Amino acid sequence: MAKRGTNPWPTLDSGVLIAPSVLACDFARAGEQIDQALAGGADLLHVDIMDGHFVPNLSMGPGFVESIRAYTDVPLDVHIMVQDAAYYVERFAEVGADSITFQVEVTDRPEKLVERLGELGLGAGICLGPATPVEAISLVADAVDIVLVMTVEPGCGGQKFMENMLGKIESVRGMLKPGKRLEVDGGIDQQTAGPCRRRGADVFVAGNSIFRAEDIGGAVRALRQTVA
Ligand code: DX5
Ligand code: ZN
Repeated sequence: MAKRGTNPWPTLDSGVLIAPSVLACDFARAGEQIDQALAGGADLLHVDIMDGHFVPNLSMGPGFVESIRAYTDVPLDVHIMVQDAAYYVERFAEVGADSITFQVEVTDRPEKLVERLGELGLGAGICLGPATPVEAISLVADAVDIVLVMTVEPGCGGQKFMENMLGKIESVRGMLKPGKRLEVDGGIDQQTAGPCRRRGADVFVAGNSIFRAEDIGGAVRALRQTVA
């Protein structure tokens, strides 16, 4: 049985957080590359779960998260891009996720999933795909720990940042009570992170710009400097 996860958001420091996305790791060297990202000061690890239904891709499963959980105590920010979010919330809670972010598009009762994540003692996040209006999360914006605004189409790493999501970041920040986290995800690098920060983002997911860099730790430090 994996170590249980716990909600990291209340205890993480209140400033900017960097969450490298392990989807961009060389899976054959994930531990080594995670060590480098953590040495560079990464605050969390973002783990992208894809089911081949909600998005046309498969990424990693509960077994991968179980291994990462056994390998490191750093908070695991699990982003489930899956149709059956209720089922996978249970599965990833079992293997040690600390926070789980689901897609608002997959349920017309998001408050039920947020409630269940609270019962499990985990962080609760809700994610807006690029085409989904901010109104979709208005009923749960107060209940979640974090809102994730996708700045690419979910489904794979290494895509180009969508500039037209900047206005949406600002709108979401305007909906959130102080202290709520706003995470951006997709094409985040030293050029795109600053404009997101200025519009209210404070958690930065980055896959390719970190794990495909020559110096992974240096890429984490450089990204943090652009949004400090
Ligand atoms: C895309 C994932 C993102 C992606 C980010 O579906 O949700 O987390 O891995 O990767 P980059 O930073 O390479 O765009
Ligand atoms: Zn993600």
